[in-house]
Amino acid sequence: MTAADFLPERLTLPALREAAAGCRGCHLWQVGTQTVFGEGAAGASAVFVGEQPGDQEDRAGKPFVGPAGRVFDEALDAAGIDRTSVYVTNAVKHFKWQARGKRRIHQKPNWTEMTACRPWLEAELAVVKPRVLVLLGATAAQSLLGRQFRVTQHRGELLESDLAEAVTATVHPSSILRGEPSDREANLAAFVSDLTVVAKLL
Ligand code: URA
Ligand code: SF4
Repeated sequence: MTAADFLPERLTLPALREAAAGCRGCHLWQVGTQTVFGEGAAGASAVFVGEQPGDQEDRAGKPFVGPAGRVFDEALDAAGIDRTSVYVTNAVKHFKWQARGKRRIHQKPNWTEMTACRPWLEAELAVVKPRVLVLLGATAAQSLLGRQFRVTQHRGELLESDLAEAVTATVHPSSILRGEPSDREANLAAFVSDLTVVAKLL
């Protein structure tokens, strides 16, 4: 079973969102609280894809509203991109976590889960038809470009792909939070620089 078994007949964002809420395309529907579908304008010229919802996204039902979302917002702002004019989603739409005391610790989705969930992302791209596609981190990039893709080697480049007129990959904003505090400023600047490439395409 994959998300493909739950796709609605008519592909519109409201129909997709409603159908995804009942998805049981992989075991993660029992792990996360709710499906966190993408959000943004149906006619957005850019789509940004993250990995999967985190703890706060899982509670809110919205993508990129927690700590990584704040880094993302800050970087978008610095690059001159208005978040309300783009569409933001994730490669996997349920939060995968493990308990550590009272905390819910993020666990990286595996290839089976990424593959099971990909039909939602493909449907979002088919409906929004963005001119520019931005893959945030290895999970999003590998889900759509193949497992051999390396963000570290190709970040900020315009990639050869049929997914959109312009496709690019960069780091995940949470990597800036996880990195050494002394590297934070430089890592954020490099992320903003990759997003400035995107801003020029819009
Ligand atoms: N990390 C992601 O990849 N996506 C979110 O929505 C939040 C954190
Ligand atoms: Fe469906 Fe994706 Fe959630 Fe798995 S992670 S149940 S495929 S929405």
